[in-house]
Amino acid sequence: MAIENFEEKVNILEKESKEAIQEASDLARLENIRIKYLGRKGVLNELVKELPDIREGSRARFGHSINFAKDNLERLIDEKSQELKNEFIAEKLEKEKIDITMPGKIFALGHLHPLTKVERRIEDIFQSMGFEIVFGSEIESEYYNFDALNIPKNHPARDLQDTFWLRRGLLLRTHTSPMQARYMEKNNPPLRIIVPGRVFRHEATDASHEIQFHQVEGLMVGEDVSLANLKAVFEEFFKKFFSTRGKKIEVRFRPGYFPFVEPGMEIDIKIASSKWLEVVGAGMVHRKVFKSAGYAPGKQQGFAFGLGLERLAMLYYGINDIRLFYSSDFRFLKQF
Ligand code: PHE
Repeated sequence: MAIENFEEKVNILEKESKEAIQEASDLARLENIRIKYLGRKGVLNELVKELPDIREGSRARFGHSINFAKDNLERLIDEKSQELKNEFIAEKLEKEKIDITMPGKIFALGHLHPLTKVERRIEDIFQSMGFEIVFGSEIESEYYNFDALNIPKNHPARDLQDTFWLRRGLLLRTHTSPMQARYMEKNNPPLRIIVPGRVFRHEATDASHEIQFHQVEGLMVGEDVSLANLKAVFEEFFKKFFSTRGKKIEVRFRPGYFPFVEPGMEIDIKIASSKWLEVVGAGMVHRKVFKSAGYAPGKQQGFAFGLGLERLAMLYYGINDIRLFYSSDFRFLKQF
């Protein structure tokens, strides 16, 4: 065969492969092209097999043009490969670009309800004074809510208006005091407990009354627990509780009546220049309550108190309507 025909073949292959390289849209396709033309069994090497058909004088020229074509293709493939790689990187960079001037995402984290926060604060302070935290049940019996606490059958607190009655002598506890009776039945003095929990009263609601609210009951009993201990505990408690508010606070003890204490009292506080506010009912545990609990007469003395959680939270945060606590209003809740 004439050398010109071979050269023609090589030219055609070169042209054809150049076009293919140009069009290759990714590295995998480019590699296939390389194998097809430059591979060990590729088109160009196949052509070399035809070398013996060529006149001896032209062989060198033929070899030269094949090598030239190979070098050329290799260079084109390398260039294209570099080009594709650059494109790939550029695209990737574009996709993964971070605009550091964009505003950050705000992750909405929940937080505790203001009443829970205040409850925990109260618990911490009483725990630091050696009180243990116990819990009672929201459904109580008439016996523990009233009888065991020396609240006689005809006492106004038993009036249908105040109590949510359930069936079979059960009711929604109207205060946390039933736990005094329950705890003393099962435990011997000396003892120091607080009982945080929800209570219920069948009353009209207004800015300072809700049908459900929270109390923290307290009870300290021992052979020589006195009124002086009650005073000391509350002076310490209020000092610590309002310490983060940095306001001057005064505490006042006033006589008050509760059937399960004798003497009974109310504890008022006054913050800075505002009015006196009643926040705690308290007193020395009545002997009849000790008797119901099965304690030997005359041996033990103790004080009990019932603290209004919402009242205290309202004072602490400066909230003027108790109903806000149960309103589920985010504008209110977000502030705590
Ligand atoms: N249980 C009373 C109330 O609900 C408060 C109280 C508790 C008073 C303990 C004295 C002693 O109002």
